Amino acid sequence: MAGALRIAVLKERAKGETRVAATPETVKKFAALGASVAVEEGAGASASISDGEFSAAGADIAPAASVLQGADIVLGVQGPDPAVLQGANPGAWIVAGLDPYGQRGRVDAYAAAGVEALAMEFMPRITRAQSMDILSSQSNLAGYKAVIEAANIYGRAFPMMMTAAGTVSAAKAFVMGVGVAGLQAIATARRLGAQVSATDVRSATKEQIQSLGAKPIFVESVAGIEGEGAGGYATEMSEEYQKAQAELVSAHIAKQDIVITTALIPGRAAPRLITDAQIATMKPGSVIFDLAVVQGGNVEGSVADQIVERHGVKILGYSNPPARLPADASALFARNLYNFLSAFWDKEAGKPVLDEEIGNAIRLTQGGKIVHERLLGA
Ligand code: NAI
Repeated sequence: MAGALRIAVLKERAKGETRVAATPETVKKFAALGASVAVEEGAGASASISDGEFSAAGADIAPAASVLQGADIVLGVQGPDPAVLQGANPGAWIVAGLDPYGQRGRVDAYAAAGVEALAMEFMPRITRAQSMDILSSQSNLAGYKAVIEAANIYGRAFPMMMTAAGTVSAAKAFVMGVGVAGLQAIATARRLGAQVSATDVRSATKEQIQSLGAKPIFVESVAGIEGEGAGGYATEMSEEYQKAQAELVSAHIAKQDIVITTALIPGRAAPRLITDAQIATMKPGSVIFDLAVVQGGNVEGSVADQIVERHGVKILGYSNPPARLPADASALFARNLYNFLSAFWDKEAGKPVLDEEIGNAIRLTQGGKIVHERLLGA
């Protein structure tokens, strides 16, 4: 169809990134909306999607330069290098996880290139945007993978086993931070047969922990965050709370075999939840998985993509956990992008047209300028 909106899907270029921003399923769905989709050669290989599958779904397969030629929308998992964007139409949309604070220079380059950069991680946490939320879809998988990896390097079993040779006792697992990743970590550890407990600063999570069959461990003496802060996120806690939390955690952690930490505070370094002195009280052979390692770490001494051993305890954390499940992570990420673009599809215009609420929340650059209020003056 002449004049159809052209969507480009590039191969991810960041180190360790195995995901891809479209799947044959979403290519078909975009085609059904009247768009044409071009996918860079080999873009899906690390997520187990062949060029043939993309092609069978209706995508044109080509090198990056031709994929970008005349593109109106460029999809990415991470933000594409501005240097490779040549050929895209003026004002083309870049739709990806853009890491706006961490990659500010790149955002400036998008502005200079005259493209419109849409940061999917800034999607507001409102009901109608839930299916577009890359943070949720990827955190859920990260929570699952953290438990699987912890189980993998743990020298004992998770479930209780009664065998002719004697009984193996169940592992005790403790999940710190019960957002999307933490809830999945609880569910996964339970499925593997561990005895699970969990904590958070948001008191609303207590019931969620119980409904998953785990034991809530909460600071009772100092008020936590009743319900939730802005957008459902946590805020930094008072010194008094932090002290009470450290005492509670110290007593509890010494008895745990597996600890999964997921605590994050938007726009700040991850809160330190476990100190080296606390690790020293744990049993040798215990395992800690720090899902916040890239944001500064919840655990003292954790190093991204390495197993660090302290006091006989193994500590690990991945810089990009969803990239360890590239097929599922890509499928969900790609659907988030499709759900977003299709929700705003204007049939007459043959392209998506954003509304103010979501447009203002995610648009970083427009007309050659930075336009996002969180980046202006920053
Ligand atoms: P997150 O990744 O920002 O943080 C993870 C967890 O760490 C949170 O539960 C937070 O309360 C907790 N935490 C922070 N500081 C802590 C500390 N010092 N000690 C212990 N825990 C600490 O959170 P995530 O996963 O992004 O979810 C936050 C909320 O947003 C949840 O209530 C979730 O249900 C809600 N949500 C709503 C969506 C929507 O309506 N569209 C989509 C996704 C999540």
